[in-house]
Amino acid sequence: MRHFLTLNDFSKAELLEMMKLAIDIKMQHIQGIPTPYLSGKTLAMVFEKSSTRTRVSFQVGIYQLGGFGIFLSNSDLQLGRGEIIRDSAAVISSMVDMIMVRTHMHQRLEEFAKYSSVPVINGLSDAFHPMQLLADYLTMIENGIFVPHRILDGVAHKNIIAMPIVAYIGDGNNMAHSWLMLASKLGFELRLACPKNYQPNQDIVAIAYENAKKSGAKIIITDDIIEVAKAANVITTDTWVSMGQEAEKEQRMRDFKDYKVDSHIMSLAHQDAIFLHCLPAYRGLEVSEEVIDGTQSKIIQEAHNRLHAQKGVMVWLNKQNRITTI
Ligand code: CP
Ligand code: NVA
Repeated sequence: MRHFLTLNDFSKAELLEMMKLAIDIKMQHIQGIPTPYLSGKTLAMVFEKSSTRTRVSFQVGIYQLGGFGIFLSNSDLQLGRGEIIRDSAAVISSMVDMIMVRTHMHQRLEEFAKYSSVPVINGLSDAFHPMQLLADYLTMIENGIFVPHRILDGVAHKNIIAMPIVAYIGDGNNMAHSWLMLASKLGFELRLACPKNYQPNQDIVAIAYENAKKSGAKIIITDDIIEVAKAANVITTDTWVSMGQEAEKEQRMRDFKDYKVDSHIMSLAHQDAIFLHCLPAYRGLEVSEEVIDGTQSKIIQEAHNRLHAQKGVMVWLNKQNRITTI
């Protein structure tokens, strides 16, 4: 059974297959061609945390593929009242074809996958947010950044940037970890600037360095936001206070105050650099209003691409696992 818990679960070729599917399905959708590749299939969506983009994109995505999505929030599920993951996963998976889970500790997701008889997709855990990164990568491709030959044909492009530099500024959190996985799998340059006490998890960094040996990725981890921004093709950041960290808010406001993406940071980047943010964003904190609402910002295209990237993932997993209910 192939689940999608992290980008590290897949080879570069497999990730590109999913992107190719996402691009093809997006094209068909734009042209008004029906895409019933998962006709009659059901997707359960388990949310133990809030969501706008993930919920809408999965629910609309499975519908556009001819299937049906079931939204299951923690406040309604027995899981939220203490039913164990093992029973919840076994029962839900006995009735649906795929399950998306958004949860707290990544181990909860792994346990869910262990007891699920159908593929489980990570809709965000404290450690990783891989669906977001596929949407981010699709947005990079559409902006001519790091477009591999095998998917070049499907993309409108002018000047392709073959070896881009992505600069991530902020918390060494689930987004930073996912950027580490994407860059190290695909083989581009990633520079992370995180405050000293908020560096990414060392075990995940070690995996990224190991992957980079094979892919040729260059990974730089520092606390210097000026150095990472220089000549970067993508500047990205994330909230200083992730879901579940609300009690640390005041401390984090102090610790991250110098890690803001503003127009000075953007001026150090490549002149055609794009700005990405997974959203929700907090204007005036991790990013200034002029940057997030400026011409280099691709945040709405990026959020919209969640829809298409995830359709690529669901169709790919379905093909791999030849999904059928009991
Ligand atoms: N980026 C993202 O996952 O947004 P939501 O929390 O709204 O789903
Ligand atoms: N790091 C953020 C991402 C939200 C999409 C969080 O986990 O809350």
